[in-house]
Amino acid sequence: MDYKKKIAELINIEGVSADEIFGMLAFPKDLSMGDYCLPCFKFAGKLRKAPVMIANELKDGIDLSKNTWLEKVESVAGYLNFTLNKSDYADKIIGKILSDGENYGKSDMGKGKTVCIDYSSVNIAKPFHIGHLSTTVIGAALYRIYKALGYEVVGINHLGDWGTQFGKLISAFKRWGNKEDIEKRGIKALFEIYVRFHSEEKENPALADEGRAWFKKIEDGDKEATELFSFFREVTLKEVEKLYERLGVKFDSYCGESFYNDKMQPVLDELEQKGLLTESEGAKVVNLDSYDMPPCLLVKADGATLYATRDMAAAFYRKQTYDFDKCLYVVAYQQNLHFKQWFKVVELMEKEWYKDLVHVAFGMVSLEDGAMSTREGRVVFLEEVLDKAVKKAGDIINEKNPNLKDKEKISEQVGVGAVVFSALCNNRIKDIVFNFDKVLNFDGETAPYLQYTTARCNSVIEKAGESDLVPDYSGVTSAVGAELINVLSRFSQVVKDSAEKYEPSFVTRYLLNVAGLYNKFYFEHKIITDDKNIQQARLNLTKATRTVLKNGLALLGIQAPERM
Ligand code: ARG
Repeated sequence: MDYKKKIAELINIEGVSADEIFGMLAFPKDLSMGDYCLPCFKFAGKLRKAPVMIANELKDGIDLSKNTWLEKVESVAGYLNFTLNKSDYADKIIGKILSDGENYGKSDMGKGKTVCIDYSSVNIAKPFHIGHLSTTVIGAALYRIYKALGYEVVGINHLGDWGTQFGKLISAFKRWGNKEDIEKRGIKALFEIYVRFHSEEKENPALADEGRAWFKKIEDGDKEATELFSFFREVTLKEVEKLYERLGVKFDSYCGESFYNDKMQPVLDELEQKGLLTESEGAKVVNLDSYDMPPCLLVKADGATLYATRDMAAAFYRKQTYDFDKCLYVVAYQQNLHFKQWFKVVELMEKEWYKDLVHVAFGMVSLEDGAMSTREGRVVFLEEVLDKAVKKAGDIINEKNPNLKDKEKISEQVGVGAVVFSALCNNRIKDIVFNFDKVLNFDGETAPYLQYTTARCNSVIEKAGESDLVPDYSGVTSAVGAELINVLSRFSQVVKDSAEKYEPSFVTRYLLNVAGLYNKFYFEHKIITDDKNIQQARLNLTKATRTVLKNGLALLGIQAPERM
């Protein structure tokens, strides 16, 4: 299966191991020159011979009749070029994909290692808006990717459930809130009174004091305050969980900021003891001047802790609880400085694992009609975006394929898939401007395009019916066929690379490439054809393509409908 290794073992040069040869094998500039090449000038010094001569002699030493997996070996200008037998190659690759099935692309490289992923991390009583899309779907994709590589993965929703704003919310609720309405309309109703509080606070500063007083009550564990707060939390979670279900997203832990109320002091004590904490106008900070960063503020003058204090306590807790090999934070780049600062503080505390903390930053998502602000209440709810995409997907399906069965279910899969894909298809650091028509374009770089290609594979396979003829793989060795097979063979490497760089977009780009090549193959070759052995080879290639598309989409959290 590993051709590079097989080639390395074919080459005998005294004093050079097969491993060294393996490392020297490269890809020729052009596929027409072969699949691998060995630059022989590297041996010229050792053998005291011209590279051309070395290449000629090596070529003469290879017996093709004993190595039918090789089509030809050529000596060209000091290079030894190897061309694989394409039918044999097709047979091996397609055979492996079909026998691995759902497991094709998986590996156990992460066995025994744990990765914590902090993603989505929504705020209680705040809308789940389009700005949460990327963290949620990038985090969930990385979750599945690491799982597929055999890692133990802990998905953490670090809920924003602490801060003075919750005092304000209680105050707003006491004035204008209505429990039934909130139970019925959920976050929207909560958010309305919160926004109202903010605008009235501008005219009536006494409101701010009232809010602070309620926050104090939460902190002191007052019964009414904590009960109301739990109610807000439940309402929020019930609603976001519905969205998580639509998006196919799961968490292993919902430990939010408030969970760390009693876990910050030991960290602060250790900082104090290590002489890292300094006082600045009554506040406690870690000075980061030498690192060209503003100080990391950990305790305010009034004794209140901050977002960073909680993040540090959470990191210590996670290290202790899960003994992670890596802890990822899938959070927008706006928080770059925040993470840089407290990661540095962990380093200064001489915790070796500071190296394993990774801020997986990503760009902003906006709708074409501009920005939004939570406080002013101008937000784009993610649920509304999903609903609109599903509705539009339904319209397209009605137009293209009005007799499709299960239209409603498929519209949901296509609409939601399109939105998820839009946040995964570019390098994560790029800002995205969301456009419904673009993400739903069946011929674009979209989920519907991949879903449609998968459905095309299904319908070809179905039309051909079951058969177990011996495949004649010369039927898939045209330029596009060979390229498709080569690309299919690289899937597991792509999954590994995407984990290593925290880039689900490697998988999305890869799948677009697979789909593009398959469609080209489909238009250039008859799959159902008179020569049934050739047909069997093309069908097997179709099945292998379908397997890769399905496995890849599953990693991204996108459903592949049978038909479209
Ligand atoms: N709740 C925060 C926000 O909406 C994101 C939290 C990210 N996770 C973390 N551990 N800081 O901005």
